[in-house]
Amino acid sequence: MPADFLERDLASLVHPLHDVKAQRAAHVWVRGSGALLFDADGKEYIDGLSGLWNVALGHGRRELADAAREQMATLAYASGYTGNTNVPAIELAEKLARLTYPRINRFFFTSGGAEANESAIKLARSCWKLRGQPAKTKVISRELGYHGTTLAAMSATGIAGYWPLFEPRVPGFIHIPSPYPYRAQATDGASHGVTIANELEKAIVREGAETVAMFLAEPVIGVGGVIVPPDDYFPRIREICDRYDVLFAADEVITGFGRTGRWFALEHWGVAPDIVQFAKAITSGYFPVGGVGISDQIAQVLDEAPVPWMHAYTYSAHPTGCAVALRTLQIIEEENLVTEASRKGAKLMDALRSRLANHPHVGEIRGKGFMCAVEFVNDRETKQPFAPEEQVGALVHEEAQKRGLFSRIRGDVFVLAPPFVIPDDLVERIAEILASATEAVLGR
Ligand SMILES: Cc1ncc(COP(=O)(O)O)c(C=O)c1O
Repeated sequence: MPADFLERDLASLVHPLHDVKAQRAAHVWVRGSGALLFDADGKEYIDGLSGLWNVALGHGRRELADAAREQMATLAYASGYTGNTNVPAIELAEKLARLTYPRINRFFFTSGGAEANESAIKLARSCWKLRGQPAKTKVISRELGYHGTTLAAMSATGIAGYWPLFEPRVPGFIHIPSPYPYRAQATDGASHGVTIANELEKAIVREGAETVAMFLAEPVIGVGGVIVPPDDYFPRIREICDRYDVLFAADEVITGFGRTGRWFALEHWGVAPDIVQFAKAITSGYFPVGGVGISDQIAQVLDEAPVPWMHAYTYSAHPTGCAVALRTLQIIEEENLVTEASRKGAKLMDALRSRLANHPHVGEIRGKGFMCAVEFVNDRETKQPFAPEEQVGALVHEEAQKRGLFSRIRGDVFVLAPPFVIPDDLVERIAEILASATEAVLGR
């Protein structure tokens, strides 16, 4: 049966990141329950990445299906275009105003993360135009950052592998380095965090502050390999943005709604953005919803604009999506899942460290809250990576799958972000499987 599905799949579908060789060995996923996924072969896997970092509440939550069904039966869809609104959208925006940063109180909804970033970029540009500074259009983002694959989001994305088939990129997008504490170069005097944050100042000065609209960054890099910034990085970024009148847009598509152990990740460093992008866990993946929150200042500029803001999606403020999001946020609150994410993250880090910290090819085990990574290296002393053709990360992931753990890798970095509801014994089991898979590929 699975072979038949695969043949039909290959004949009929084009996939995200389409690669026919990989597709020939694809899993045919048929069912989910809690932190477990089942494929058409009947094999069970721990969902080590909560789907794609989104299924925070786990699979098979009847309450979310009920919220969708009830809303669909009442008012499945209505336009959200200006001149229209709906009750779930209003309630969701009010709830987000309470949960996000104090200065963020107004929301625009999208269907996912890339659309959220597109909207953030267009918001920043339009805001400067409306404020009489039309030359402020450039977007500064970071190497290793991931913001989605629509054209502007792809241009902001700092992982070069996403570009070649689709260039030219949108002009006016600039990349600066990301902090990467494990691979930090020695600096004289200033810390790694401040040194790398100062790259933003250098780029703004080089380009001319009067041409820069925004700085766009994930508080903790996700797809790029779960890279946690030093504590002094974002406070310095905020100072620089304020000094040069550059809007700071935080891409919290992965980090939002508790993943790092706080509702929103910049809270860890006492920093607030001007714009916040979110998606993924807002509905725990049960319905495609994303969005942007904007500061009161930006909202005022939009409200006072002499022309309409000509940015729109058919599915903006989709009533069913908003109803599922509301129920998701309610469950996160009722089940205290932000605290649970923090507790289970600490447990996973402990378990990974106790089993893998001394392995000769484990360079670093790192994480924030319940997003973690293990970076494999050829040489621990020099931190020299393996040659890409050795495919070490892919081999470890293959062995992990044989043992019942499914996640993703980026190069030789194995990333983990399990559902918040995963039982404690499965947290231990993830570390056990990853250690055994590592030994199978790299020895003891
Ligand atoms: C930080 C970040 N931003 C944006 C996106 C793009 O979201 P989507 O795939 O929903 O367009 C992702 C997806 O992984 C992401 O991790």
